[in-house]
Amino acid sequence: MFDIRRVVTEQDVAEVALLAREIWSQHYLPIIGQAQVDYMLDKYQSVPAITGQMAEGYEYYLAVNQGASAGYLALVPDVAASTLMISKIYVKHGLRGQCIGRKMLALAERRCSERGLRSIWLTVNKHNRQSIQWYERNGFVNAGALVADIGGGFVMDDLKMVKEHAEA
Ligand SMILES: CC(C)(COP(=O)(O)OP(=O)(O)OC[C@H]1O[C@@H](n2cnc3c(N)ncnc32)[C@H](O)[C@@H]1OP(=O)(O)O)[C@@H](O)C(=O)NCCC(=O)NCCS
Repeated sequence: MFDIRRVVTEQDVAEVALLAREIWSQHYLPIIGQAQVDYMLDKYQSVPAITGQMAEGYEYYLAVNQGASAGYLALVPDVAASTLMISKIYVKHGLRGQCIGRKMLALAERRCSERGLRSIWLTVNKHNRQSIQWYERNGFVNAGALVADIGGGFVMDDLKMVKEHAEA
């Protein structure tokens, strides 16, 4: 049984933070190194950080496969700009390639339709090649480089990718 459900309770938030630590430690270690992984987990994916984001309008979702957490998604709608940002989309290492990512993307597209938004965008690390290719296969195009100073002596060295939403 597979389901994607909205993150609501404190327990859900704690589950997302745990998943984030597991997935980021595995996936980003070779890309940005341990010090930046720790810094970014604390700043963006700790329980207080996620709770604060949700209070600002971030929609978090948990993908649950056979009763166990399999991945998570965070969306940020911007009605004024008619866009939806995919802030986070992560699947556990051993469960990749089973269309869980695609189902989360489909949920993002449904949210776009429901809110009448024109496009979906995200940022992805320039060296995160497999994910960039995955986004391209799923209709996103490269919209240029984005380098952001995130403090602590670290930068996010990203690409912006955009997908126009057909049903807006
Ligand atoms: C990018 C990501 C969210 C995609 O989710 P996913 O569930 O693996 O994706 P899907 O199963 O929907 O699609 C994976 C594609 O790779 C293929 N694939 C096969 N084996 C795979 C494997 N072991 N790992 C990844 N993809 C695999 C699938 O057949 C599918 O091909 P297609 O797109 O040509 O049809 C996920 O791989 C992930 O969490 N990556 C690491 C974290 C990350 O970089 N997130 C994005 C941050 S910006």
